[in-house]
Amino acid sequence: MHKNKILAFSGLFSFMMLGIAVVNTTKQNERNLKILPKDISDAKLDSIMHSYNKALGVTCNFCHAKPVVLAFGARDTLDYASDKEPMKENARDMMRMTIEMNAKYFHYDKNQKPEYLTTITCIMCHKGEPMPPGFH
Ligand code: HEC
Ligand code: HEC
Repeated sequence: MHKNKILAFSGLFSFMMLGIAVVNTTKQNERNLKILPKDISDAKLDSIMHSYNKALGVTCNFCHAKPVVLAFGARDTLDYASDKEPMKENARDMMRMTIEMNAKYFHYDKNQKPEYLTTITCIMCHKGEPMPPGFH
């Protein structure tokens, strides 16, 4: 009787883990863009994200939350589309500010979307630090 209960529970548990793994792998390419153009290519998105790592001297998990449960077979461990990590919203404010500066004062190339202008960039202020040097 006792043994059966344990079996039933471990069966249920493996079934749940399988479900989580499926949900998690399908979520890998999910997007939740509020600032960058919705039609941005994977390559462009990736290069912008790597530029943030470099500008702030951080890794992706500075702004991106870990999934609630780590899935078996998941290719990496961050839930990029999630907004659970508050630093992501701080970064969105910084993106709004940087885009506005470029669009308002440096929009020389009108064929380029303001989100892709790089006259002012994160690294100019941040210089490889999460808090720009000189800011108190
Ligand atoms: C300084 C903060 C920051 C860092 C560091 C960062 N990201 Fe992001 N990332 C964001 C923000 C903010 C968005 C959402 C942009 C928007 O709303 O348009 C985003 C969006 C994404 C998305 C699309 C999902 C979504 O939210 O729409 C992916 C995928 C992604 N980042 C991957 C990465 C990877 C991979 C790295 C490391 C190489 C990384 N990010 C580093 C802030 C960051
Ligand atoms: C004009 C200068 C400037 C530019 C450009 C700039 N930042 Fe910032 N950033 C700051 C200052 C100053 C702070 C600290 C003050 C604050 O948090 O309000 C800051 C703070 C932040 C923080 C919060 C850090 C923490 O530990 O709380 C993040 C995240 C961030 N910036 C990301 C970015 C990203 C991503 C870009 C480019 C899209 C960017 N910043 C461009 C000046 C800048």
